Amino acid sequence: MSENTFYVTTPIYYVNDIPHIGHVYTTVAADVISRYMRMSGRKVMFLTGTDEHGQKVEQAARDRGKTPQEHCDEMVVRFKDLWRRFNISNDDFIRTTEERHIKVVQHFLQKLFDSGDIFKSSYSGWYCVPDERFWTEKDLDDGHCPDCGREVVQLEESNYFFKMSKYQDWLIKHIEDNANFIRPETRRNEMLGFLRNPLEDLCISRPKSRLNWGVEIPFDTDYVTYVWFDALINYVTSPGYTTDDERFAAFWPNCTHLIGKDILTTHTIYWPTMLKGEGLAPPARVFAHGWWTIEGHKMSKSVGNVVEPNMLLDKYGADAIRYFLLREVPFGLDGDFSHSALVGRINSDLANDIGNLLQRSLGMLEKYRDGVIPPAPDDSEMGDLSMEFVKASHKAVNELDEHMAVLSFDRALKAVWEFIGAANKYIDSAAPWTLAKEGKEAKLDSVMYTLFEAIRQVAVMINPFMPETGQKMFRQLGITQKKELHTFTSLEIWGGLPGGTKTFRGPALFPRIEEVQEVDVKEDKKDEGGRMKEEPQKTANVIGIEDFAKVELVTGKVLEAEAVPKSKKLIRMIVDTGEKRQIVAGIAEYYEPDDLVGRTIAVVGNLAPAKLMGVESNGMLLAAHDDNGLALVTFDKEVGVGVRIK
Ligand code: MSP
Repeated sequence: MSENTFYVTTPIYYVNDIPHIGHVYTTVAADVISRYMRMSGRKVMFLTGTDEHGQKVEQAARDRGKTPQEHCDEMVVRFKDLWRRFNISNDDFIRTTEERHIKVVQHFLQKLFDSGDIFKSSYSGWYCVPDERFWTEKDLDDGHCPDCGREVVQLEESNYFFKMSKYQDWLIKHIEDNANFIRPETRRNEMLGFLRNPLEDLCISRPKSRLNWGVEIPFDTDYVTYVWFDALINYVTSPGYTTDDERFAAFWPNCTHLIGKDILTTHTIYWPTMLKGEGLAPPARVFAHGWWTIEGHKMSKSVGNVVEPNMLLDKYGADAIRYFLLREVPFGLDGDFSHSALVGRINSDLANDIGNLLQRSLGMLEKYRDGVIPPAPDDSEMGDLSMEFVKASHKAVNELDEHMAVLSFDRALKAVWEFIGAANKYIDSAAPWTLAKEGKEAKLDSVMYTLFEAIRQVAVMINPFMPETGQKMFRQLGITQKKELHTFTSLEIWGGLPGGTKTFRGPALFPRIEEVQEVDVKEDKKDEGGRMKEEPQKTANVIGIEDFAKVELVTGKVLEAEAVPKSKKLIRMIVDTGEKRQIVAGIAEYYEPDDLVGRTIAVVGNLAPAKLMGVESNGMLLAAHDDNGLALVTFDKEVGVGVRIK
């Protein structure tokens, strides 16, 4: 086992899902810890990917008239593109439909079967079709699935089972002996509590007669593998289990799984027992983070408050979002996402604290030293103020290391921001402008050097969190090419920044965001008495014509319409908007499907696809809804299809 390696994973995301802020959260956290470890000299492996088998994928592909593989190949791009935009530095991206993974799953199954840990048995129980999960009678929530609240069906079939129960005592002992295995502590206690009840064996197959899209069971080709059993194995496929022994031995013992709290049981009960049966060690650490609500509400597609990460990126940029997510909420607790909290952090922590520190320092260096870093002073030339300030930098680095070791991202950032605060105070106390005025040149050199070495240290410390900003700072400090000054090891000794370096003053790192635009007071807006002429106030709700033009409204003719099975509200339509598209709308309580066929309606044409009860919708129709019911937007004259509505 190598001490010098670090292996971190995210859950592999369901390929059908539209990436949302929850996916971004785990992936950014994994990226930050990976970058930090790399910058500290560790060999890092960072894995993310997509979970591509199962009933939902099969169904979605069928709805779109695609093969499941074609469907997955198209959907996976959304995740890959988003990770590129967020500067995610994953070393591998695994898809469970890849041959390399399928082989490992089959190897895993065969080994467990050969050793007697997998057996066949008849099973009858309550089954939740959308979740692809069996439940016992006592699990049910008023006759419904305890996970998603939907109806369950009684099902009896022969299946293969993994002898999970056999490993219960071993697992309890492992959790008790390894305080770090399940983090945070609350989650560890939760799982120990769960294990006080007898552990059941795990059904790990699905008959092909019911589901085809999965990894075929190697010892019985009438069955495919249960998606979770297949998905968890991705974590050992990528580092080379059965294919690259050396690599696997180097990385697997130092593995941290980052997950959301909802998938704790699969990762800390199913997975370690599966590994135990296979003769492999459990992961070193499973850390379950909390959930985000959006502006105080549970994130939900039906409420329509799912935060679309691409829109956030367009508006605020990757670094501000990365910073916000990790600073705002302690990793492990639930948090609330709101635009006002995000803008607040951007304006205070980013524009004000760090942005201002860099701008004012570069401004002074330009004014007093033509933008060139003075030589490093000897300790004897530094004085108490500077010596104290240097101590503050060591404190920040040490605290950051301590907090990163336990994934306390918010505290790590807090420590850096305390140091940024100390740097701004240092400027005020050392008062370079007074030193310049009084001609104290040596002292001025010493202060300016100390300040810029501190800024370099800040740039290194924030780099894992905000890689674009870190690079911008290195550029402005004139040390882009000096990679040895970008590492955490370079912070162990004060004074890495070479005297004589030419700096470059660039644009502000983070311009302030004014959420409500101020009405600017120009001369021509005033009346003769100098008072403001009446003018409507600009508010955050008013959009310009260019914003409106982003919405592609078009006419569409309903060609087919039918109720979505098992749904009271949804109707699935095929609408001709110049191209045929499937639209799902919640109008079944107001319209019969047959009434809709032949009508020309107004459609939002460029809305990202969404899934409603497992059915994909490519567009949205316009309607007005009040106490009297719902009325579709239609046209008072004949109009063609695909005509732009302005
Ligand atoms: N495919 C499984 C994971 C298999 S890993 C072997 C899965 N995928 S998922 O796409 O549904 O969810 C991925 C992650 O997103 C989970 O860790 C989940 O906790 C997280 N989140 C989903 N909604 C979230 C929030 N509202 N807030 C934070 N994270 C959330 O589960």
